[in-house]
Amino acid sequence: NQLLLLNGPNLNLLGKREPHIYGNSGLDEIENEVRMLLQKHGWELSSFQSNHEGELIEAIQKSDGKYKGIIFNPAAYTHTSVALRDAISAVDVPVIEVHLSNVHNREPFRRESLLAPVCWGQISGLGAIGYSVAAHAFLEMHKRKDG
Ligand code: DQA
Repeated sequence: NQLLLLNGPNLNLLGKREPHIYGNSGLDEIENEVRMLLQKHGWELSSFQSNHEGELIEAIQKSDGKYKGIIFNPAAYTHTSVALRDAISAVDVPVIEVHLSNVHNREPFRRESLLAPVCWGQISGLGAIGYSVAAHAFLEMHKRKDG
């Protein structure tokens, strides 16, 4: 079983970018943490970050049939992208939307997610832990489905 970890624009700068908001962990560290957690359960992780909306759309399109789920931090595209929403709707792969920061206690424009309504769920404000919580949720969902 495989999960896809997908990260949107500016998340390549994690660790350096506004650490008071987004924390000190780099994307590599987050990736390793999720990968190790999944390995314990015999699952694999693929990871992709892009600053380009079209590349994220293509990654979602190609995920169909390949992944049990997508852990997706769409970053600023959360609040703007009808195209990413349509891509999520087009595939049969459940998506958990993850935000490091609590998008509800920041600028009002961050409260709205165009993607959340077509995602399985949303995690916001737990920092890097949120990605692992999402991985746990996929593992647990499959345990319940198969068992
Ligand atoms: C973010 C929140 C978004 O509003 C912002 O544009 C980001 C990161 C988060 O992880 O908290 O780039 O998705």
